[in-house]
Amino acid sequence: MKFICEVVILSLSIIVIQSSITFSRELGSPNHIKTTTFYTKTFVLEPGKVSRQTFFDVEFPRGHVGIKNLQAELVDEHGNSIPLYEAYLHHYFVLRYFENITMSQHANKSQPNYGKYFKRNDGACQTFVNSISWGLGVDARRTSTELPDPFRVEVGTHPEDVPKEYDEEKWLINILVIDTRGVEDKKGCSQCRCDLLDVKSKDLTNTTGVDGTPLPSDYKGGIFCCEKKSQCKLQQGYNEKQKRKVAIKYTISWVEWDQQQVPLKFYILDVTDQVTYNGSEPIHHCAVEYSINPEKTDEGHYHIKKTNIPMTKGGSLIYITAHVHSGIVNATLYGEDGRRLCEIKPIYGTGKEAGNEEGYAVGASGCYPKPGSMKIKDGENLTVEFIHENKYTTGLMGHFYVYLAEDLPKSL
Ligand SMILES: *[C@@H]1O[C@H](CO)[C@@H](O)[C@H](O)[C@H]1NC(C)=O
Ligand SMILES: *[C@@H]1O[C@H](CO)[C@@H](O)[C@H](O)[C@H]1NC(C)=O
Ligand SMILES: *[C@@H]1O[C@H](CO)[C@@H](O)[C@H](O)[C@H]1NC(C)=O
Ligand SMILES: *[C@@H]1O[C@H](CO)[C@@H](O)[C@H](O)[C@H]1NC(C)=O
Ligand SMILES: *[C@@H]1O[C@H](CO)[C@@H](O)[C@H](O)[C@H]1NC(C)=O
Ligand SMILES: *[C@@H]1O[C@H](CO)[C@@H](O)[C@H](O)[C@H]1NC(C)=O
Repeated sequence: MKFICEVVILSLSIIVIQSSITFSRELGSPNHIKTTTFYTKTFVLEPGKVSRQTFFDVEFPRGHVGIKNLQAELVDEHGNSIPLYEAYLHHYFVLRYFENITMSQHANKSQPNYGKYFKRNDGACQTFVNSISWGLGVDARRTSTELPDPFRVEVGTHPEDVPKEYDEEKWLINILVIDTRGVEDKKGCSQCRCDLLDVKSKDLTNTTGVDGTPLPSDYKGGIFCCEKKSQCKLQQGYNEKQKRKVAIKYTISWVEWDQQQVPLKFYILDVTDQVTYNGSEPIHHCAVEYSINPEKTDEGHYHIKKTNIPMTKGGSLIYITAHVHSGIVNATLYGEDGRRLCEIKPIYGTGKEAGNEEGYAVGASGCYPKPGSMKIKDGENLTVEFIHENKYTTGLMGHFYVYLAEDLPKSL
């Protein structure tokens, strides 16, 4: 429930400091794919400060449409990309929700989610964990989420599992950004190290992790230490407190829905998911993040994290990529019989410019199997494996993003 809790908290203090710099650009293309760029409201960064917030009811293509791609990044108030070593985009999440306006008008501060119904993706983590439709972080600029034609994520219809009285489809964007200008340890601040953020374990607001189990008593870093108002340790004597206005820029490619479009299911497979069974029914326990503490492991050069996740419903693999963090070596998705379904390689930056920052995993590769050539059976038990450098790392994530078609058109 972490995410929803955060939505609750954030909506209490909807940020109205800045003017919106929302504008958009539409480009037509011969096959009717439209591309529009949107911006969230601006928000303010300050050296060392953590910024966490949710933008409700953001701009999005309306009507019955199929989304082909959504790419996002952090930009300054003039729309210029900001490099990761100045402002680390820990994550952005795009989440779909439905609202009953009559009900939400009656919401009050103690129940700001009243009147909203959050719609998760097709993945199976418990409750609303990993429920987003799109979202990446450090890897946002170079990881493609582009779906091949004619496959789309279908939106603008009322899903059967959303109660009827929640009738208006809306979208929210949740972000966590750490301004690392002037900090003592850029890598540590990016990994939300509790000591650098001056959060003592007794001060943690949550003592339970996302999966409901207690946080380890030696929890050293991760999302629970990147609190909304945290300040990461600055270099001694650094006192340039320049504020900076920024925004999330997001570009969406989509088509009006018609018979030619093929809908996909979207699953996030989390390497921290520990599946237990109640009879044959799988119960998921996704922790979202994990840490590597080499003193405790002893696996040599690599840290290997692996789990088995059963897919209740199968289909044809159309596109696969992964959300990765710096330190990643590679990630592999295997079928139950051991066949390799997809191997993901990171893209590491080699320069200074945004999208190519040296030392950061700025993206991940993807797999586009020929539609119909690679299938997952109903109930198939997949294996997810993430290999990292065996170095002290906190707040690490390993999530496969899997797009499946349940029915392929005969023409393919
Ligand atoms: C945080 O703590 C509350 C109260 O103990 C709990 O209900 C909630 O699930 C926790 N949120 C998480 C795991 O983010
Ligand atoms: C508003 O808050 C009060 C007290 O906190 C609560 O009893 C009431 O149910 C809330 N109403 C709504 C619509 O959330
Ligand atoms: C919204 O909720 C109210 C109160 O539950 C209900 O009376 C109304 O019919 C709902 N609106 C729609 C459009 O279903
Ligand atoms: C296990 O499944 C049974 C039968 O479907 C159900 O009654 C029970 O509540 C489930 N237990 C848990 C812990 O989910
Ligand atoms: C991933 O990296 C490990 C360690 O270098 C290597 O042994 C393995 O072959 C790699 N896997 C793939 C699929 O490239
Ligand atoms: C999936 O594989 C794991 C490890 O081999 C096993 O423990 C689990 O029972 C399997 N689940 C199913 C549904 O086959």
